[in-house]
Amino acid sequence: MDQSLRRPKLLKDYAPPDYLIDEVELDFALDPNATRVSSKLKLRPNPKATNNRPPLILDGENLALESVTLDGKQLAAADYRLDDKSLTVPTVPDRPFVLETVTVCDPEANTALSGLYRSRATYCTQCEPEGFRRITYFLDRPDVLAVYTVRIEAPRQEAAVLLANGNPVAAGDLPGTGRHFAVWHDPHPKPSYLFALVGGNLACVPDSFATASGRDVKLNIYVEPGKEDRCGWAMESLKRAMRWDEQRFGREYDLDVFNIVAVSDFNMGAMENKGLNIFNDKLVLARPDTASDGDYGAIEGVIAHEYFHNWTGNRVTCRDWFQLCLKEGLTVFRDQEFTSDLRSGPVKRILDVRMLRTHQFPEDAGPLAHPVRPASYIEINNFYTATVYEKGAELCRMLQTLLGRDGFRKGLDLYFEWNDGSAATVEDFVGAMADASGRDLSQFMLWYNQSGTPELACSLDYDARAKTARLSVNQVLSPTPGQTKKEPMLIPLKLGLLGGNGDDLPLQLEGGTTLADGLVEVTDREQVFIFKDIPTAPTPSLLRDFSAPVRLTMTLDPDQIEFLMMHDKDPFNRWQAAQSYATNLLTAASRGGFDAGPVTGTEATRLAQALATTASEISLAAAYRAEFLKLPNESDIARELASNVDPDAVRTAYERLRATVGRKISGTLGEIYEDAAATGPFSPDAESAGKRALRSAALDLLVGSGEAEEIERALRHYREATNMTDAIAALSILSHLDRPARDEALADFYARWQDEPLVLDKWFAVQARATRPDSVETVHGLLSHPKFSLKNPNRLRALIGSFVHANPTGFNRADGAGYELLASSALQIDRFNPHMAARLLGAFESWRTLEPKRQALAKGALRQLASGELSTDSYEIVTKTLGAD
Ligand code: PHE
Ligand code: ZN
Repeated sequence: MDQSLRRPKLLKDYAPPDYLIDEVELDFALDPNATRVSSKLKLRPNPKATNNRPPLILDGENLALESVTLDGKQLAAADYRLDDKSLTVPTVPDRPFVLETVTVCDPEANTALSGLYRSRATYCTQCEPEGFRRITYFLDRPDVLAVYTVRIEAPRQEAAVLLANGNPVAAGDLPGTGRHFAVWHDPHPKPSYLFALVGGNLACVPDSFATASGRDVKLNIYVEPGKEDRCGWAMESLKRAMRWDEQRFGREYDLDVFNIVAVSDFNMGAMENKGLNIFNDKLVLARPDTASDGDYGAIEGVIAHEYFHNWTGNRVTCRDWFQLCLKEGLTVFRDQEFTSDLRSGPVKRILDVRMLRTHQFPEDAGPLAHPVRPASYIEINNFYTATVYEKGAELCRMLQTLLGRDGFRKGLDLYFEWNDGSAATVEDFVGAMADASGRDLSQFMLWYNQSGTPELACSLDYDARAKTARLSVNQVLSPTPGQTKKEPMLIPLKLGLLGGNGDDLPLQLEGGTTLADGLVEVTDREQVFIFKDIPTAPTPSLLRDFSAPVRLTMTLDPDQIEFLMMHDKDPFNRWQAAQSYATNLLTAASRGGFDAGPVTGTEATRLAQALATTASEISLAAAYRAEFLKLPNESDIARELASNVDPDAVRTAYERLRATVGRKISGTLGEIYEDAAATGPFSPDAESAGKRALRSAALDLLVGSGEAEEIERALRHYREATNMTDAIAALSILSHLDRPARDEALADFYARWQDEPLVLDKWFAVQARATRPDSVETVHGLLSHPKFSLKNPNRLRALIGSFVHANPTGFNRADGAGYELLASSALQIDRFNPHMAARLLGAFESWRTLEPKRQALAKGALRQLASGELSTDSYEIVTKTLGAD
């Protein structure tokens, strides 16, 4: 192993490139094992370079070099140097020059799915972050922006469709050869990570879109022939996204065509390549019988996300990979706002906060914690994290909260105006926000540079004589790896004070300011806000709408929490109150030796009744009522416990509370179940989906009661399902049971869907997630199922990913068998797809929060891994997870 690969790269070492590339001409002769790439680069010394007459060093990996030509003259072997990472030309002209190379790569052998590879029979590419260097020698860094012209040639029989970025400019046959070609030109300068190429025999689903200024854009979705009937939802979602970005942010599309290609083998969700988005087919294909409401929602969101990148990421790109949140955080924020505008705002907020807490909070609290803008990385592929994406989005949201919607829009307009066509930094973004609003945002920058979830420790004191309420806020900024001392942050805190009838009291700060929007800004380590003219002791509702990605701690008694659960005008906090109430019971039960009291006693009964009341409130959206009925899950409880976690005790607490609720309010749940039954044909719209979600949430609690008739109900739900949403909901509820109903449903599902890969993934996933004592053995068995393959990322995620990330009792089984399963499969996967292996190994991130026995077993597994042969990707995750000792 070349140890230089494992040396961290540092943000502070950034230097501009020595050379720039203005234009690129590429010519591809596609072949399964020997694709020839002829490249012509128009280079020039970078006037901003700091080095004097430096050598030209181009990145390149896994390439067979056939020739190098400089200004038309072929170079002899002595004129350049070659190693397995680069091509160096020691002396090049001190003026613009042309460098041509011819290289050969092997798409079929590319199992890492980075660069040019084959998914089934389709040629496709994935270049972000550093895949372009596996296609041709290049300055493969995001601050080198060039205009690309791409010619692709292939046998027509093997690849009738030939696509690249930008607009099509020429195409035709090469007579007598059976071959044909296509030429694409992308007028927008772009970094190499946005390059894309596709070749294959794909079916095309066409449509069109007229932009606000009248540009007629051809839209195409390319899929495997036979799947054309599953593209309608993705296409509708794309058009909605295009319109929304015009209306909300004034951003229009800028090419004549927008192509989307769905492929079956893809490491991530999708990729925003300019004018040619490449998607994991899971995030394109949907039909009511094959895709659930969850899938429909994800497709709409990701289609929008990739489309929105056209401005936030492509037109304005990142200077270096440390700035990844500049495009990802901002684009996630934009797609969240899109979904929020199109569907229920409160429900979207609840789902996003759930996601943040489940994935980002543990990351921020564990050994892999890093700032939204990391200061160092070993392998950039490991930094496509919940912190960069989800917390990054929260930072944009806080800016919008602080500056107001209009202020934020002005800032964003300015950001585009100043940075269009170039590679920017977080400072450019926050600087534009500061300039547009006239605010000093230097304290806000800490959010990008300090890791860890801030805790806001709050307390409220009421002075009956003075009629004042005194809110004390302390920022607790615990140390994280590499950061021991932290500065107090600027935290927008939205709040309300509820009077006796549940209404919000007017908020007047001592000193005069009236808070119309309930927003205060916390800037100090310790701060006090005094509200005047408060007639009686109020109930505080803090961090409304989850106005900052922090952990709020405040002692409220059960009566106060129940009061918020019934009356809070802020829908997010109303939901939060129910969650907090339940979490208090669940943690009390899970702690130390298990204590059933809190999850079976009078408090639990009170919770059940409060849930029943809200869940029956028909003025509330069904999707919202469904969220209300979902108890905090195992990861919520474990996070709250924070140390000495026994996943079995946590699960028992969860199941007991679920049983209590299911039994105490079975009547109401039964009514909700009946009332929410669908009438017309399937429609994926938010309201219909909300009803299905409400129905499944009620069903889940009813089955939790353990009554035989409820299990019968679940089986009926499965048998009578006319869409995937209902089928998979019932299947997953049944999957945990040790009853014939489970086996019947699983067998039926397999028989029906064995030849539909995306649906079969659900069958693998549901079993991997099932809480059963033999889940490790089940997963072992499925690893050798004839339909299983480690090579397909979706299948891998469905089985191993679901098990390690979503089956806490199985993965953390007391005998360590879950850890062994992960370690041995990750080692295998690491040899051909390091990126996927490293992602799975992330499941060890919370090992230090476990009880001592499991900790020791997890540590043993990590140590064993660390002593083996690992890729750079896995090496970074394993060693950082193990930590210093
Ligand atoms: N840039 C993609 C997105 O978030 C994610 C991605 C990263 C895809 C790296 C592939 C490889 O939209
Ligand atoms: Zn993205």
